[in-house]
Amino acid sequence: MLAADFSAARERIRAHILRTPLETSRTLSRLAGAKLHLKCENLQKTGSFKVRGALNRLLGLSAAERRRGVVAASAGNHAQGIAYAAGIAGVRATVVMPRTAAIAKVEATRGYGAEIVLAGGDYAAAFAHAAALARRRRALLVHAFDDEQVIAGQGTVALEILEQLPEVEVVVVPVGGGGLAAGIASALSTASPAVRVVGAQAELASTLRPSLRAGRRIEAPPSPTIADGLATSGIGVRPWRVLRRHLDRAVTVSEAEIAAAILLLLERSKLVVEGAGAVALAACLGPLRRSIAGRRVAVVLSGGNIDVNVLDRILNLGLAEQGRVFRFATVLIDRPGALAALADVIGRAGANIKQIHHDRGRVGVGVLETLVTVELETRGRDQVPEIVSLLRAAGYRLLR
Ligand SMILES: Cc1ncc(COP(=O)(O)O)c(C=O)c1O
Repeated sequence: MLAADFSAARERIRAHILRTPLETSRTLSRLAGAKLHLKCENLQKTGSFKVRGALNRLLGLSAAERRRGVVAASAGNHAQGIAYAAGIAGVRATVVMPRTAAIAKVEATRGYGAEIVLAGGDYAAAFAHAAALARRRRALLVHAFDDEQVIAGQGTVALEILEQLPEVEVVVVPVGGGGLAAGIASALSTASPAVRVVGAQAELASTLRPSLRAGRRIEAPPSPTIADGLATSGIGVRPWRVLRRHLDRAVTVSEAEIAAAILLLLERSKLVVEGAGAVALAACLGPLRRSIAGRRVAVVLSGGNIDVNVLDRILNLGLAEQGRVFRFATVLIDRPGALAALADVIGRAGANIKQIHHDRGRVGVGVLETLVTVELETRGRDQVPEIVSLLRAAGYRLLR
């Protein structure tokens, strides 16, 4: 792709999207040991960068293509991007979403005016349905990442980063099918070739590293991950052509690291970011720490459409990863005051009881004993040894 493709995309979509802020954060920079700048595509129209590629594709259609309408398959953000873009371009859009898609995402997509078809149990099945539907209707199938115009649209994120931070040294990007990373890497390869581009994936959906190692696209079914936007079975053919040449490296992060990054963004930066959108920050705080030390890094927060129904579970996992939740069990003599005495030691340790479960008559626990499981809120990992030694000194045997 040429520099002109990206500047043309920028002009085409400019009036319909936001130039999202590039925020600094002292706390996150200190934690990462680098100068982090957060590219807030979670604040983009429709809640993700996907609207850029969708708009570039649909605003570039010929009159004949426009009349035929478009079909897309997506479990979330591409769906919303296409629906929104179709409204602006004046094109009829049908979006096939898997039956498992979050209700809120289905309703948001419908709200932008697209026709919704629910089909298949996962993205691959929804895509097959969408392809058949497009053939039947002679409509245009708009792929979420394997499409030059979509990639060019996503690449406009890089042009904005260069304007906002001309001295940027590294850009860290989440990778699903690779459209966003390919757009960014390709745009930077001509506009500012010294900038390094790093791709970040969830461990549970990570085909990029094995592909780079093998020198060819490797496919593998993804496992369910908090970063649901990245759960594809592999890198697209077109993104791969770019990434194999222009990507500096690829890293993966665990579910707990993603959850901790979501929690940090919420708590410290007041930013609501979905799993896929927090993967690049998780990479900066984890596997990339050494290589980005002291550097100016743009971290792409690619989306904010988190499913609020699972937010509490994600935040709890994040708290556990940060050591701010500590769970243990112990056996007490079953007599009045025993529980109060345990609570007293916990209080003296400065921890707060979140949950306590008192279980009499458990197999393996004596008749006059009771098993107590406790979940504590702590200041952080450093406080845990302090709590443990106070409990042990008071004579409690910790079971887990
Ligand atoms: C929030 C978010 N981030 C990142 C991605 C990955 O984009 P790509 O498939 O272009 O790699 C997606 C894809 O849906 C997404 O929704």
